Amino acid sequence: MTSQRQVRLFWRPLAHVACALPLVYLILQLAEVAGLRLGPNPQLVIRDVLGEWGLRLLLGSLAMTPLRWLTGKPWPLQFRRLLGLWSFAYLALHFVTYFFLDRSLDLPVIIEDIAKRPYITIGFAAFLLMIPLAITSTAGWRRQLGARWLTLHKLVYVVAVLGCWHFYWLVKKDVREPLVYCAVLALLLGFRLWKARQRAR
Ligand code: HEM
Repeated sequence: MTSQRQVRLFWRPLAHVACALPLVYLILQLAEVAGLRLGPNPQLVIRDVLGEWGLRLLLGSLAMTPLRWLTGKPWPLQFRRLLGLWSFAYLALHFVTYFFLDRSLDLPVIIEDIAKRPYITIGFAAFLLMIPLAITSTAGWRRQLGARWLTLHKLVYVVAVLGCWHFYWLVKKDVREPLVYCAVLALLLGFRLWKARQRAR
Protein backbone atom coordinates (compact mmCIF):
# COMPACT_ATOMS: atom_id res chain seq x y z
CA MET A 1 0.00 0.00 0.00
CA THR A 2 1.54 3.33 -1.09
CA SER A 3 1.15 5.62 1.91
CA GLN A 4 0.52 9.33 1.63
CA ARG A 5 3.89 9.83 3.26
CA GLN A 6 5.67 7.68 0.66
CA VAL A 7 4.00 9.64 -2.14
CA ARG A 8 4.88 13.00 -0.53
CA LEU A 9 8.48 12.18 0.44
CA PHE A 10 9.52 9.86 -2.37
CA TRP A 11 7.27 9.49 -5.41
CA ARG A 12 6.38 13.18 -5.90
CA PRO A 13 10.00 14.43 -5.66
CA LEU A 14 10.92 11.63 -8.08
CA ALA A 15 8.16 12.77 -10.44
CA HIS A 16 9.51 16.34 -10.30
CA VAL A 17 12.99 15.06 -11.22
CA ALA A 18 11.55 12.98 -14.07
CA CYS A 19 9.59 15.98 -15.42
CA ALA A 20 12.71 18.18 -15.26
CA LEU A 21 14.96 15.66 -17.09
CA PRO A 22 14.06 16.63 -20.70
CA LEU A 23 14.72 20.29 -19.82
CA VAL A 24 18.04 19.44 -18.15
CA TYR A 25 19.03 17.38 -21.20
CA LEU A 26 18.17 20.32 -23.50
CA ILE A 27 20.34 22.63 -21.36
CA LEU A 28 23.24 20.11 -21.46
CA GLN A 29 22.87 19.92 -25.27
CA LEU A 30 22.78 23.72 -25.47
CA ALA A 31 25.91 23.95 -23.32
CA GLU A 32 27.46 21.18 -25.47
CA VAL A 33 28.37 19.23 -22.35
CA ALA A 34 30.10 15.86 -23.01
CA GLY A 35 29.83 16.32 -26.79
CA LEU A 36 26.06 16.69 -26.73
CA ARG A 37 24.82 18.97 -29.54
CA LEU A 38 21.54 20.48 -30.70
CA GLY A 39 22.59 20.50 -34.35
CA PRO A 40 22.52 23.28 -36.94
CA ASN A 41 19.20 24.89 -35.83
CA PRO A 42 19.26 24.77 -32.03
CA GLN A 43 16.33 27.17 -31.58
CA LEU A 44 14.04 24.96 -33.69
CA VAL A 45 15.03 21.83 -31.77
CA ILE A 46 14.49 23.62 -28.44
CA ARG A 47 11.08 24.94 -29.59
CA ASP A 48 9.91 21.53 -30.79
CA VAL A 49 11.23 19.51 -27.85
CA LEU A 50 9.55 21.92 -25.41
CA GLY A 51 6.27 21.75 -27.37
CA GLU A 52 6.31 17.96 -27.52
CA TRP A 53 7.13 17.45 -23.82
CA GLY A 54 4.50 20.05 -22.93
CA LEU A 55 1.89 18.01 -24.80
CA ARG A 56 3.13 14.68 -23.38
CA LEU A 57 2.95 15.97 -19.79
CA LEU A 58 -0.52 17.39 -20.45
CA LEU A 59 -1.72 13.96 -21.64
CA GLY A 60 0.10 12.44 -18.64
CA SER A 61 -1.90 14.71 -16.33
CA LEU A 62 -5.15 13.65 -18.06
CA ALA A 63 -4.18 9.97 -17.62
CA MET A 64 -4.13 10.20 -13.82
CA THR A 65 -7.93 10.05 -13.30
CA PRO A 66 -8.39 6.94 -15.50
CA LEU A 67 -5.40 5.44 -13.65
CA ARG A 68 -7.18 6.12 -10.38
CA TRP A 69 -10.28 4.34 -11.71
CA LEU A 70 -8.24 1.40 -13.06
CA THR A 71 -6.14 0.92 -9.89
CA GLY A 72 -8.89 1.82 -7.43
CA LYS A 73 -6.14 3.69 -5.57
CA PRO A 74 -6.15 7.45 -4.83
CA TRP A 75 -2.39 8.09 -5.36
CA PRO A 76 -2.57 8.95 -9.12
CA LEU A 77 -4.67 12.02 -8.26
CA GLN A 78 -1.69 13.43 -6.35
CA PHE A 79 0.27 13.73 -9.62
CA ARG A 80 -2.40 15.48 -11.70
CA ARG A 81 -1.50 19.02 -10.66
CA LEU A 82 2.26 18.31 -10.72
CA LEU A 83 2.09 17.05 -14.32
CA GLY A 84 -0.28 19.87 -15.32
CA LEU A 85 2.04 22.57 -13.97
CA TRP A 86 5.11 21.00 -15.58
CA SER A 87 3.19 20.89 -18.87
CA PHE A 88 2.42 24.59 -18.44
CA ALA A 89 6.08 25.33 -17.68
CA TYR A 90 7.26 23.51 -20.82
CA LEU A 91 4.64 25.21 -22.99
CA ALA A 92 5.44 28.64 -21.53
CA LEU A 93 9.09 28.01 -22.50
CA HIS A 94 7.87 26.75 -25.90
CA PHE A 95 6.07 30.05 -26.42
CA VAL A 96 9.05 32.09 -25.13
CA THR A 97 11.34 30.19 -27.53
CA TYR A 98 9.02 30.96 -30.44
CA PHE A 99 8.71 34.59 -29.31
CA PHE A 100 12.42 35.33 -28.71
CA LEU A 101 14.45 32.80 -30.74
CA ASP A 102 12.08 31.99 -33.61
CA ARG A 103 10.58 35.45 -34.16
CA SER A 104 13.21 37.62 -32.40
CA LEU A 105 10.50 39.61 -30.59
CA ASP A 106 9.21 40.92 -33.94
CA LEU A 107 5.71 41.81 -32.73
CA PRO A 108 4.14 42.63 -36.13
CA VAL A 109 5.30 39.23 -37.48
CA ILE A 110 4.11 37.43 -34.32
CA ILE A 111 0.69 39.11 -34.52
CA GLU A 112 0.46 38.20 -38.21
CA ASP A 113 1.45 34.59 -37.37
CA ILE A 114 -1.25 34.36 -34.69
CA ALA A 115 -3.84 35.97 -36.98
CA LYS A 116 -3.04 34.19 -40.23
CA ARG A 117 -1.37 30.85 -39.47
CA PRO A 118 -4.15 28.59 -38.13
CA TYR A 119 -1.85 26.16 -36.32
CA ILE A 120 -0.30 29.07 -34.42
CA THR A 121 -3.74 30.60 -33.75
CA ILE A 122 -4.93 27.41 -32.03
CA GLY A 123 -1.57 26.89 -30.27
CA PHE A 124 -1.85 30.40 -28.89
CA ALA A 125 -5.50 29.88 -27.89
CA ALA A 126 -4.53 26.65 -26.09
CA PHE A 127 -1.75 28.43 -24.21
CA LEU A 128 -4.00 31.33 -23.20
CA LEU A 129 -6.55 28.84 -21.82
CA MET A 130 -3.82 27.16 -19.75
CA ILE A 131 -3.01 30.39 -17.87
CA PRO A 132 -6.17 30.51 -15.66
CA LEU A 133 -5.81 26.75 -15.07
CA ALA A 134 -2.22 27.15 -13.85
CA ILE A 135 -3.13 30.17 -11.67
CA THR A 136 -6.15 28.50 -10.06
CA SER A 137 -4.46 25.11 -9.53
CA THR A 138 -3.78 25.83 -5.84
CA ALA A 139 -5.87 24.41 -2.96
CA GLY A 140 -6.72 28.00 -1.97
CA TRP A 141 -8.29 28.80 -5.36
CA ARG A 142 -10.07 25.44 -5.33
CA ARG A 143 -11.68 26.29 -2.01
CA GLN A 144 -12.48 29.82 -3.16
CA LEU A 145 -14.09 28.84 -6.44
CA GLY A 146 -15.94 25.79 -5.11
CA ALA A 147 -18.03 24.06 -7.82
CA ARG A 148 -16.97 26.69 -10.40
CA TRP A 149 -13.39 25.32 -10.05
CA LEU A 150 -14.43 21.97 -11.51
CA THR A 151 -16.23 23.72 -14.37
CA LEU A 152 -13.22 25.95 -15.07
CA HIS A 153 -10.77 23.04 -15.02
CA LYS A 154 -12.79 21.17 -17.64
CA LEU A 155 -11.04 23.62 -19.98
CA VAL A 156 -8.08 21.26 -19.80
CA TYR A 157 -9.92 19.02 -22.29
CA VAL A 158 -10.18 21.95 -24.73
CA VAL A 159 -6.46 22.74 -24.26
CA ALA A 160 -5.53 19.12 -24.97
CA VAL A 161 -7.72 18.97 -28.11
CA LEU A 162 -6.27 22.29 -29.38
CA GLY A 163 -2.70 21.14 -28.55
CA CYS A 164 -3.12 17.90 -30.55
CA TRP A 165 -4.77 19.78 -33.39
CA HIS A 166 -1.93 22.36 -33.33
CA PHE A 167 0.61 19.52 -33.66
CA TYR A 168 -1.41 17.76 -36.38
CA TRP A 169 -1.87 20.92 -38.39
CA LEU A 170 1.75 22.05 -38.25
CA VAL A 171 3.14 18.78 -39.56
CA LYS A 172 3.67 19.11 -43.31
CA LYS A 173 4.18 15.50 -44.40
CA ASP A 174 4.18 12.58 -41.98
CA VAL A 175 1.18 12.95 -39.63
CA ARG A 176 1.75 9.63 -37.85
CA GLU A 177 3.35 11.19 -34.76
CA PRO A 178 0.60 13.76 -34.04
CA LEU A 179 -1.98 11.05 -34.78
CA VAL A 180 -0.52 8.95 -31.96
CA TYR A 181 -1.10 11.90 -29.58
CA CYS A 182 -4.63 12.32 -30.96
CA ALA A 183 -5.33 8.60 -30.41
CA VAL A 184 -4.07 8.74 -26.81
CA LEU A 185 -6.22 11.82 -26.15
CA ALA A 186 -9.28 10.13 -27.77
CA LEU A 187 -8.72 7.15 -25.46
CA LEU A 188 -8.44 9.32 -22.33
CA LEU A 189 -11.57 11.35 -23.22
CA GLY A 190 -13.47 8.25 -24.39
CA PHE A 191 -12.75 6.52 -21.06
CA ARG A 192 -14.21 9.52 -19.23
CA LEU A 193 -17.34 9.50 -21.40
CA TRP A 194 -17.79 5.79 -20.79
CA LYS A 195 -17.33 6.28 -17.04
CA ALA A 196 -19.83 9.19 -17.00
CA ARG A 197 -22.37 7.02 -18.89
CA GLN A 198 -21.84 4.16 -16.44
CA ARG A 199 -22.40 6.54 -13.51
CA ALA A 200 -25.53 8.00 -15.17
CA ARG A 201 -26.92 4.48 -15.61
C1 HEM B 1 1.70 29.73 -27.20
C2 HEM B 1 1.42 29.59 -28.38
C3 HEM B 1 2.17 28.65 -29.30
C4 HEM B 1 2.93 28.97 -30.36
C5 HEM B 1 3.20 30.36 -30.89
C6 HEM B 1 3.45 27.74 -30.90
C7 HEM B 1 4.28 27.69 -32.01
C8 HEM B 1 4.81 26.52 -32.51
C9 HEM B 1 5.68 26.45 -33.67
C10 HEM B 1 6.11 27.62 -34.51
C11 HEM B 1 6.01 25.15 -33.84
C12 HEM B 1 6.91 24.54 -34.93
C13 HEM B 1 6.21 24.41 -36.21
C14 HEM B 1 7.07 23.81 -37.28
O1 HEM B 1 7.71 22.80 -37.06
O2 HEM B 1 7.06 24.38 -38.34
C15 HEM B 1 5.35 24.42 -32.79
C16 HEM B 1 5.48 23.07 -32.61
C17 HEM B 1 4.81 22.38 -31.65
N1 HEM B 1 3.97 22.89 -30.68
FE1 HEM B 1 3.48 24.78 -30.43
N2 HEM B 1 2.99 26.68 -30.17
C18 HEM B 1 2.21 27.20 -29.18
C19 HEM B 1 1.52 26.51 -28.22
C20 HEM B 1 1.54 25.16 -28.10
C21 HEM B 1 0.74 24.42 -27.17
C22 HEM B 1 -0.24 25.03 -26.18
C23 HEM B 1 1.04 23.10 -27.36
C24 HEM B 1 0.50 21.87 -26.66
C25 HEM B 1 -0.56 21.86 -25.89
C26 HEM B 1 2.06 23.03 -28.39
C27 HEM B 1 2.63 21.89 -28.86
C28 HEM B 1 3.51 21.83 -29.93
C29 HEM B 1 4.07 20.59 -30.46
C30 HEM B 1 3.78 19.19 -29.92
C31 HEM B 1 4.88 20.94 -31.54
C32 HEM B 1 5.63 20.00 -32.49
C33 HEM B 1 6.97 19.69 -32.05
C34 HEM B 1 7.65 18.78 -33.06
O3 HEM B 1 7.64 19.04 -34.24
O4 HEM B 1 8.23 17.81 -32.61
N3 HEM B 1 2.34 24.31 -28.84
N4 HEM B 1 4.61 25.26 -32.00
